[in-house]
Amino acid sequence: MKLEEATKNMLVAEAYEAQRNAYVPYSDFCVGAALLAKNGTVYRGCNIENASFSPTNCAERTAFFKAVSEGVTEFEAIAIVGNKKGKEGDFCAPCGVCRQVMAEFCDPDEFQIILGAGEKTSVYTLREILPMGFTNDNLKSSE
Ligand code: THU
Repeated sequence: MKLEEATKNMLVAEAYEAQRNAYVPYSDFCVGAALLAKNGTVYRGCNIENASFSPTNCAERTAFFKAVSEGVTEFEAIAIVGNKKGKEGDFCAPCGVCRQVMAEFCDPDEFQIILGAGEKTSVYTLREILPMGFTNDNLKSSE
């Protein structure tokens, strides 16, 4: 389903708000995400880094895990913004691990990924950015 222009703009604005809380003492790269659930709730997420590096959590996963931990597992769209602190950035595509988390909960042809950078936006389906993903269906097919 195509997203309304107003919904898209609202989600990018929410992602920029989320980005303000990015905890990034090691990379200075601030990411914000705004995840729209089918029930209309928007979950914000930012990246949260760690001195031990590998525990770092991406903004997208922060948003997903906030929602799922509240019992919400059905989603329509996510907006993502990312740039070095104080700089203008280009589109920030989600990392492979975050795409895999999206694949756990989202329909590949329905879920919309909105990349934002200033006034620019670009929208993709999950299938476009994660073709041939590994899902629960793979587990079922070999039973
Ligand atoms: N990062 C995200 O939050 N989302 C992504 O999809 C890509 C990378 C974060 C992780 C780390 O804090 C910083 O960006 C630099 O990799």
